[in-house]
Amino acid sequence: MKLAVAGTGYVGLVAGVCFAEKGHQVTCVDVDEEKIARMREGISPIYEAGLEELLKNNIAANRLFFTSDFASAYRDADAIFIGVGTPEKPDGSANLSYIATVCRQIAQSVTHDCLVVVKSTVPVGTNDKVEQYIKDNLSADVKVRVASNPEFLAQGNAVHDTMHATRIIIGTDDDVAEKMLQDIYAPFDLPVVSVSRRSAEMIKYACNNFLALKISYMNDIANLCELVGANIDDVAEGMRYDPRIGAKFLKAGVGYGGSCFPKDTKALTFLARQHGMHLKTVDAAVDINAAQKIKLFEKAKKRLMTFENMRIAVLGLAFKPGTDDLREAPSLDNVKLLLEHGADIVCYDPIAAENFKKKFPEVTLANSAEEALEGAFCCFIFTEWEEFVRLSPETFRRKMRVPLVYDGRNIFDPEYMKRGGVEYYSIGR
Ligand code: UDX
Repeated sequence: MKLAVAGTGYVGLVAGVCFAEKGHQVTCVDVDEEKIARMREGISPIYEAGLEELLKNNIAANRLFFTSDFASAYRDADAIFIGVGTPEKPDGSANLSYIATVCRQIAQSVTHDCLVVVKSTVPVGTNDKVEQYIKDNLSADVKVRVASNPEFLAQGNAVHDTMHATRIIIGTDDDVAEKMLQDIYAPFDLPVVSVSRRSAEMIKYACNNFLALKISYMNDIANLCELVGANIDDVAEGMRYDPRIGAKFLKAGVGYGGSCFPKDTKALTFLARQHGMHLKTVDAAVDINAAQKIKLFEKAKKRLMTFENMRIAVLGLAFKPGTDDLREAPSLDNVKLLLEHGADIVCYDPIAAENFKKKFPEVTLANSAEEALEGAFCCFIFTEWEEFVRLSPETFRRKMRVPLVYDGRNIFDPEYMKRGGVEYYSIGR
């Protein structure tokens, strides 16, 4: 099928590349011409395992195209997927202005009946507005159907999560739209859940909010574990065998970050408030996460006399391993606080360091974890990169001025660190 994809961020680009890989003819549209030029050369603007290879292969196979000329892409597409961002507004609601711009462009460009598919995470009811808005702005006498098809990929695993998605949600009451989406996804051979548009929109928020809640719940229990002498990792190990609970998202730490959980929790509580309801569970998850992010800083502050001119090593900056994305990463809150307290910061992250330096020019970047530890009085770990797990207590002791470690991802066994001569603090143990 002939597809167009609006937006080449994580959602749009990965969807476009995977659709091409499954045999569709795909044109990805973005306003950023420089980015378009690089993607045409086969260079991915984001770091995702396997993405660049698929990008190159499908360009070579003449199935994948990039343009900033939206009219040429939308004009005769069978289906147009919208994957542009819905960033958070100051009041917590989702900013739909990028979606509106794309809708206007679609309405002005299409020359025959087509399907518009909203992949971006949008508040419940947005698909109805999209349909009306496109209808109001149409230049030609055509029918534009609108369906919801939320995306569940996690960064760092985006290609795998798309190719082997746990399910495809199709949100529409229109038989033609349903059939088209079934056909588009047929080559993926994945379970399909067909629901109304509003339910599809809600499924996405319900999933992300539930996962955020699950993490905050574990962090809450972790904090209690510290007070009563239990170990959160052991507790999680005992919980995960219960199939009603599940094995994933039980890891306590310095809180969740990223482009989705922080934004989607606020958007859902905003939606609830708009309808006169207080979503207490999600509000609690948001509050717990905010406090959790700076928990280790607070602990260190009690332990150290001052941070003034102290060399502090920060290992891990990305909001999770496998990505260079810093959005809402716990490292941001902590480094800001440490700098405010006069610390001299040396950071290391295998791929997110350059992005971080743009936000905090005053930090020093190291070329390795060991280099960052050199002469430090204290070390914070905010991302569980595999290469940190391999560090030995001996390395911390040998390199650091004082072997004092605050591990926000529980990557080391406390006993092992203690035996190795490291003063070690983690979460919930
Ligand atoms: C998430 C959802 O998983 C995905 O389905 C949705 O489409 C977008 O949002 P993502 O933000 O890429 O994906 O990352 P994810 O792996 O879910 O992690 C989010 C945050 O939660 C990270 O900061 C991670 O460190 C944290 N986390 C995750 C925990 O603290 N504990 C856990 O057990 C799991």
